[in-house]
Amino acid sequence: ELGEHRHYMHKEIFEQPQAVTDTLQGRTTDSAVLVSAFGHGAEAVFKQIEQVQIIACGTSYHAGLVAKYWFEDIIQMPCAVEVASEYRYRNPVIRHNTLLLTISQSGETADTLAALREAKKTQPDLSSMTICNAPESSLTRESNLVFLTHAGPEIGVASTKAFTTQLVSLALLLTAIGQVQKTLPTARETAIIKGLKKLPTLIQNALQHEPLIKEVAQLFADKNSALFLGRGTMYPIAMEGALKLKEISYIHAEAYPAGELKHGPLALIDDSIPVIAIAPKDELLEKLKSNLQEVKARGGQMIVFEDEDSDVRGDDEDLNVIKATTNVGRITAPITFNIPLQLLSYHVALIKGTDVDQPRNLAKSVTVE
Ligand code: F6R
Repeated sequence: ELGEHRHYMHKEIFEQPQAVTDTLQGRTTDSAVLVSAFGHGAEAVFKQIEQVQIIACGTSYHAGLVAKYWFEDIIQMPCAVEVASEYRYRNPVIRHNTLLLTISQSGETADTLAALREAKKTQPDLSSMTICNAPESSLTRESNLVFLTHAGPEIGVASTKAFTTQLVSLALLLTAIGQVQKTLPTARETAIIKGLKKLPTLIQNALQHEPLIKEVAQLFADKNSALFLGRGTMYPIAMEGALKLKEISYIHAEAYPAGELKHGPLALIDDSIPVIAIAPKDELLEKLKSNLQEVKARGGQMIVFEDEDSDVRGDDEDLNVIKATTNVGRITAPITFNIPLQLLSYHVALIKGTDVDQPRNLAKSVTVE
């Protein structure tokens, strides 16, 4: 079943172009999202909601964090995101006209399910929706609306293609809400849909950098700690990169929004901690570059994932720069930049000799709290 791949994680990373194609299939026209793809009753719900509350765990939580940037930036819809194990126990205030959105690969994560149940108990007329990869699951049964990610079975414990298809689904969701509420200009909607349709090719291209990433992974052979930096949507992508690295290579990793460096973590920097920066050419790039200068001045070893227009290297020959992609859009960028980070953690794990598909202490589906 593994074919040419040594591990399920590797196979699933390479299945992502197809998984994205499958998730988009039948959900859009050439230029618009089909609101009906969200199920019977979705349009009425989308018309009345005033904010979105996302609840999830782990990697699925990171997908929610990316979506928060998108919801508020692109359709001006307030969006809050919280890990389920906190949300369920803290008596949260749920405003009227909230869409309670759970995100889950398995549909059985105990905390996510309990958070949904608690919220429904507090507000019986609450609209709930799940973005889920398991059609027959507790979350799909107990949510008003269901949008399935079509990632196919994910066997590796570390979530890869499920995350990517969750992001695609979230992009379709905000496009659908924006269409119904008329907060998304038609031209913008068309651009988003066209961008999403380009994703399989963008991901394919990003996957081709594997040999270079394999080389860079050597840097981690004798390291115990790593720091991931990003700004905007690249901050949650940095969090996801750090989670993947700790999960499968057992290297301690942290993610920080680059602007927070001087508020503490800069004290950590020396040549024993590789710093991984995600640097698309966008309106935050110049700020990120000056953060990276601060890292460099303190002897930090940096690995920069950039696009063809970023030019973080300048005349610094020593910097490890990987041109991971062409210049990508607001929605396609986080999805595309996550790919090389998946490959990086995979190759570091191979060097460390850990059990990639079955990391110690972890289960694929966390059905106990
Ligand atoms: C990390 C990972 C976990 C899951 C989390 C939620 O690679 O797989 O963090 O994302 O346990 O699981 P689901 O999405 O099934 O609710």
